[in-house]
Amino acid sequence: MIKLDKVTKRYGETVAVRDLSLEVNDGEVCVLIGPSGCGKTTTLRMVNRLVEPTSGSISVNGKEVLATNPEQLRRSIGYAIQSVGLFPHMTVAANIATVPELLHWDKARVAERVTELLNLVSLKPAEYAGKYPAQLSGGEAQRIGVARALACNPRLIVCDEPISALDVSIQAQIINLLEDLQEQSRDLSYLFIAHDLSVVRHISNRVAVMYLGRIMEVCRSRVLYENPLHPYTRALLSAVPIADPVVEETRERIILKGEVPSPLNPPSGCSFHPRCFMAIPECAEAVPPLRDVGDDHYVACIRV
Ligand SMILES: Nc1ncnc2c1ncn2[C@@H]1O[C@H](COP(=O)(O)OP(=O)(O)OP(=O)(O)O)[C@@H](O)[C@H]1O
Ligand code: SF4
Ligand SMILES: [Mg+2]
Repeated sequence: MIKLDKVTKRYGETVAVRDLSLEVNDGEVCVLIGPSGCGKTTTLRMVNRLVEPTSGSISVNGKEVLATNPEQLRRSIGYAIQSVGLFPHMTVAANIATVPELLHWDKARVAERVTELLNLVSLKPAEYAGKYPAQLSGGEAQRIGVARALACNPRLIVCDEPISALDVSIQAQIINLLEDLQEQSRDLSYLFIAHDLSVVRHISNRVAVMYLGRIMEVCRSRVLYENPLHPYTRALLSAVPIADPVVEETRERIILKGEVPSPLNPPSGCSFHPRCFMAIPECAEAVPPLRDVGDDHYVACIRV
C-alpha cells in the first residue's frame, strides 16, 4: 500500500505538488491524470525516492520512504518511465540486470531472469540480449524498460507514461502483460501516469485527477467515467470519443478557455477558477478542500 499524506514539493519558487494526500491499496491500479506540469511525475519520483518531498510523509507498505534504505526500495518498487532511461553504453541484458545485480543475485540467476523477462515482453532473447539501446526501436526500448521494472518481482510498479510512445498494438500487448501479472499476483499494485483516457478507463481501478499540483477529484474509475463531478474532469472526459455512435452523436464537448497557469504564480482560491465554466466570485477566495461526496468519491469544488 502507498500512502501520501499532505505532501508538498517545491523546486525553488515552483510548487510542483501541494498538500497532496492519496492512498493506493494492495492490488489496486491507480492512475494519475492531469495537464502537463501539474506534478504527476514529481509525485511518482517522490514515491520512488528519486526526489524528496519538502514536507509531508510518504509510506510504502507501512514504511516511511525516507527511512527506507534505497536498496530495499528498489526491491519493492519497479519503475518504468516514458523516456525509458536505458543506459546507452550497456546491452539490453545488462540494462535489465541492473536491479538484480544491485541486490547481489548470483550470475546464473540473473541470466535466467533476463531470458525470462525478454520472453515475457515478446522479444527473442537470442536476438535482443546483446543489442544496445541505440539499436532498438522506440517500442522495443519501452518494452525493455517494462522488463527492467519487473526484474525483481516488485509488489508495486510505478509507471510514468510507460506506453504513450508506443503504437496501439504494442500498447495493448503491454497493458495485457501488466494485467496478466496482476492476475498472477493479486496484491501487486500499480501507480501509473497515463494520458489516453480510453486506456485509463480500461486499466485503472482508481483515478486521481490533478491540476496545478493538487488533486481535484479522486474515485473509482467506473464512478469517474460515469459521474465526473469536478468541472475540470468533466471537460477532460467530454473530449473522449464514445464507442456507441448514438451517444457519440449527442456528446457535448466542453472547451476550456485559456491555458493552465504557471505553477510559479497560481491563481488564488481554486486554482482552476480562471478557466472554470461554473466559477462564481467565491471560487477565488479559498482553496476548496477535497471533500467526501460518498461512494469513496472525493472532489475539490465548492459547487459540487
Ligand atoms: N527538477 C526540477 N526543477 C525545477 N522544477 C521542476 C523540476 N521538475 C519538475 N519541475 C516543475 O514542477 C512542475 C511539475 O512537473 P512534473 O514533471 O511533475 O509535471 P507532469 O505533471 O509530470 O507534466 P508532464 O505531463 O508534462 O510530464 C512543473 O512546473 C515543472 O516545470
Ligand atoms: S471551486 Fe469554483 S472554480 Fe473551482 S472547480 Fe469548483 S466551481 Fe470551478
Ligand atoms: Mg511527467
